[in-house]
Amino acid sequence: MKKTSLSKLRCPKTKSKLAIKSIAIEIGDEIVEGVIENEKGFEYIIKDGIVDFITEEDLKGDAGFARNYYKGIAHTYDQNVDITFSLYFEDELKVRNYMIDLLGLKPNYKILEISAGTGKDSEIILKRLKSDGELFCLDISPDMLKFNKQKLDKFSKNSEVVCGTACDLPFDDNTFDALYCFAGVGHFPSIKKGLSEMARVVKKGGKVVFCEKNVPEWLRETTYGKILINNNSMFAYDAPLKYIPVEARNVGIRWIIGNVHYVVDYEVGDGEPKGNFDIPLPGERGGTFNTRYFGKLEGVSDETKKLAKDAQSKLGISMYEWLDNLIKHEAIKILNG
Ligand SMILES: C[S@@+](CC[C@H](N)C(=O)[O-])C[C@H]1O[C@@H](n2cnc3c(N)ncnc32)[C@H](O)[C@@H]1O
Repeated sequence: MKKTSLSKLRCPKTKSKLAIKSIAIEIGDEIVEGVIENEKGFEYIIKDGIVDFITEEDLKGDAGFARNYYKGIAHTYDQNVDITFSLYFEDELKVRNYMIDLLGLKPNYKILEISAGTGKDSEIILKRLKSDGELFCLDISPDMLKFNKQKLDKFSKNSEVVCGTACDLPFDDNTFDALYCFAGVGHFPSIKKGLSEMARVVKKGGKVVFCEKNVPEWLRETTYGKILINNNSMFAYDAPLKYIPVEARNVGIRWIIGNVHYVVDYEVGDGEPKGNFDIPLPGERGGTFNTRYFGKLEGVSDETKKLAKDAQSKLGISMYEWLDNLIKHEAIKILNG
């Protein structure tokens, strides 16, 4: 871990700043072995140049399984991963570049890649950055990250690999210009938390792109779909549209890689979208979207409603205008009298 990276990292649990506690081995700016701590003295170990933010608590359940599973296959991962693409007659490099293009990268961007693994995409992203750009790669598996670090350290550019979980990102709000995640979401212990963390750490106007396997509804009953689900039940997981955060704007979704991987891309906005909901609406109901939503009163009987409709139509004004005037007038009369 580079000493210069420390100011950009936060304790994943408290989001507080971190400090160096001790250094056992260092080479230049790089801490190869050492310890960093949060404001309460909680320690995180740096080993082989990689800080490990994963606690015992994080490893309960799915996360522990993933960390163990990828420990077992890390050393053969790069030799075998092209199968993920050639199963569908796809070219790995072409597809990876296509997904990375969705980030709309500029050479000075500060980027976070989640579930970066051995760094096949990390290397492509780093090559697109100039010396004022920066790439952080996060993964739950230090074994996968070891290979990632080897790839990135060949370039004299700003990069850092960090061991952590996508569900508690060790970064401050609004830190990155863009965020990328290929084939990680299905492993997140909480997809809702993971997707909300993505939006939290990206600046307003920044871009998020994530891709995961999924046999879409229209292919579920095909032999093609059934073969894939039979081989890996993750193909049957729903595309997590309900967990896309409210901050997402201009959301795109497309099924790629054999039509059985969704790729979502969106821009991060500020809170929920705002509507121009005070525009007066023409027609018999009248009012605005806001008056119709916020101005609801108790209901009336069917008979009163019919009489009111006749009276309103005789007056030739909208129901909103008539009721608003009527109720206001009566209320003021009562309150003053
Ligand atoms: C299929 S690999 C994809 C690796 C890489 N993105 C690629 O394109 O080759 C899935 C990766 O997700 C990581 N992962 C699993 N659970 C995670 C979690 N909770 N947070 C972050 N990464 C996780 C695994 O360690 C593994 O490296």
